Amino acid sequence: MIALVTGANRGIGFEIARQLKTRGFTVLLGARDAEEGQAAADRLGMTWLPLDVAERESVKEAAAWVRAEHGRVDVLVNNAGVLLDEGAEVLDFDEATLLATLQVNLLGAWRVSAAFAPLMGKGGRILNVSSGAGQLSGMGLWAPAYAVSKAALNAHTIQLAQALKGRGIAVNALCPGWVRTRMGGPNAPGSIEDGADTALWLATEAPPSLTGGFYRNRKEIPW
Ligand SMILES: NC(=O)c1ccc[n+]([C@@H]2O[C@H](COP(=O)([O-])OP(=O)(O)OC[C@H]3O[C@@H](n4cnc5c(N)ncnc54)[C@H](OP(=O)(O)O)[C@@H]3O)[C@@H](O)[C@H]2O)c1
Repeated sequence: MIALVTGANRGIGFEIARQLKTRGFTVLLGARDAEEGQAAADRLGMTWLPLDVAERESVKEAAAWVRAEHGRVDVLVNNAGVLLDEGAEVLDFDEATLLATLQVNLLGAWRVSAAFAPLMGKGGRILNVSSGAGQLSGMGLWAPAYAVSKAALNAHTIQLAQALKGRGIAVNALCPGWVRTRMGGPNAPGSIEDGADTALWLATEAPPSLTGGFYRNRKEIPW
């Protein structure tokens, strides 16, 4: 079984990659920075896959390489994400920051899924690492660009799940909870193991029929 995790050189993605390997997966560690990607892959004894999700060519080249080397992917974890506007105001917003956020958090996952879905077969699983900040049912004012990017990622998740249902590929979004990473900061209550748990469950143990949902702590939550 082949798994690809994007943004896996550190944080939650690194932990998901590490634990997928312990569960027997051949893991491709997606990372945009050569030094960091190689170092993380060496630490985990897996292959670094050069992958900048914000760059169309990088995604295309990564998919071509995986097709040539492995011929398929069974689990895709769209984990790469950026939080660029903590403390920003909705009305006093910076357009470049909004676009850079959408470029990674929405378009990044979208283009990676589009490039890799053709390499997936029945039983394939796609996970979009979203955030409670993107819940429409609890939408607030914190980090508006980030929150909107994750709400849009959730909408995309619903569409992708419908598009791939006929091929037996499950697509779900998840919130890892607030965890101690560079993004989450040192005061977050959760560890990276906590943050990786629901993703690992959706990648391996969850019934394959579960698709088109949003999960936290292994339970479905409202969009
Ligand atoms: N931590 C939390 O409390 C929390 C809560 C809710 C949701 N999340 C979500 O969980 C996911 C992982 O977050 P984290 O906390 O582990 O954050 P993190 O420690 O900041 O790690 C983010 C990862 O994404 C990568 N990345 C960013 N832009 C990329 C790009 N263009 N191409 C490829 N990789 C890129 C980073 O690579 P570089 O090292 O090259 O920058 C890094 O590996 C994110 O989607 C985040 O929104 C986190």
